[in-house]
Amino acid sequence: MTLRIDYTNMMGDVVEGGVSAADWTAASDTFRKAHAGFERRRAAGELGFLRLPTDEALHKQSTEYAVLAHGHFDDVVVLGIGGSALGPIALRTALLEPAWNTLTPDERGGRPRMHVLDNVDPYTIAALLARLPLGRTLFVVTSKSGGTAETMAQYLIVLDRLKRAGADIKRHIVFVTDPVNGALRTIANQEGIPALDIPPDVGGRFSVLTPVGMLPAALLGMDTNQLLAGARDIALRCKGDDLAQNPAGVFAMLQYLADTKRGRHIQVLMPYSDRLRDVADWFVQLWAESLGKHRTEGDAGVGPTPFGALGATDQHSKVQLFMEGPPDKTVTFISVADGGVDVTIPKLHSDVKELGYLGGHRLGELLSIEQRATAGALARRGRPNMTIHVDKVDAWHLGALFMILEIATVYAGELYGVNPMNQPGVELGKQFTYAMLGRADAEQARQEWNLLPKPDAKYSV
Ligand code: PA5
Repeated sequence: MTLRIDYTNMMGDVVEGGVSAADWTAASDTFRKAHAGFERRRAAGELGFLRLPTDEALHKQSTEYAVLAHGHFDDVVVLGIGGSALGPIALRTALLEPAWNTLTPDERGGRPRMHVLDNVDPYTIAALLARLPLGRTLFVVTSKSGGTAETMAQYLIVLDRLKRAGADIKRHIVFVTDPVNGALRTIANQEGIPALDIPPDVGGRFSVLTPVGMLPAALLGMDTNQLLAGARDIALRCKGDDLAQNPAGVFAMLQYLADTKRGRHIQVLMPYSDRLRDVADWFVQLWAESLGKHRTEGDAGVGPTPFGALGATDQHSKVQLFMEGPPDKTVTFISVADGGVDVTIPKLHSDVKELGYLGGHRLGELLSIEQRATAGALARRGRPNMTIHVDKVDAWHLGALFMILEIATVYAGELYGVNPMNQPGVELGKQFTYAMLGRADAEQARQEWNLLPKPDAKYSV
């Protein structure tokens, strides 16, 4: 079981436009300082996500709840948004069979279907609630703050439906939230609704290995021990301040240098695996919400723009832009050595030039060759790229991917000089929403909202 980063194509002596030898030499010292900053944050208790792989008590909360729930539910619905949803979605796509929810109970081995509602679009929610057998459904309400408007709105709707159906709320709802603070915790305490913990020192987008991801994983029968084992192993490999030996450091440093020294502001994560497509989405949130910030109040702001893509599908879409558009991107591929299953392409139409050469090859081989071909083609055009190699898509490698990218995010925060653990930029929009919905404590936001320019008819077509 390994995870390895090949960054040959990021380097300026290999790819025109890559990181220069001088910058890479200087990077060792810069990284040492970033690592020291990382350690300061750890000592200050800000990096609780590093502790998760060995937090057996927290892990047990998920596995014990899953044992109790086993056999009682046909559907598990996660209500959450942002960091409270993207981890569960990535886990579902990676570790459940494709089209899981369409399988029969036997095909699912008695495990439930899984749904994640991460938006408040009534079209989606009404359709799902209309067809769910409420008596066999468990709702996992996930919110670190315990008060996010979207998730609370979903919770109120679900609570009402369950009450009207005469269901036992304590059996059909479980909260995942802060152990002490927030409205969900208060409700849990008052009404005896079971509630699992998101430790206070673990931020939303770093929480996939808390019950945020681990409870759905355990309910769906995923190997939570292996998720933690992969995360633990990679965290050990990323412990030191020697850049050359620290894969998370290498990832963060290369992206930082590519952005700040080579103008590669857009950073693409492109798995060549359907099962990892939502890891790209998860990463986009992690990288964007952690790094896109003001360094000091009122400055122009820093931070790369993350972007997700999927190989080989996006070779027929976004890759044109990556190859010939502005030279402002890096591409990080994720390549999977063993796809688990493979399909041989039949030797038919052997005499047709466009088809004949395919016969006898395997689809997994084609996917892998296409990834290498795209990496090579990008390199040839002066488009820096690197490849994260994983042996297979399983719980161990997924845990390792989550952890390496989380650690890299903290390093990148240190390099950019921003706090990767907060998200002050989303606050104003929330306040305006509260103001328009009439929340009692939003008077100041209401006044600010009223001062904003209103839509002008002369700018409307
Ligand atoms: O990473 C984050 O902190 C955010 O994306 C949160 O996860 C998101 O805003 C949801 O917050 P909460 O879990 O408090 O409902």
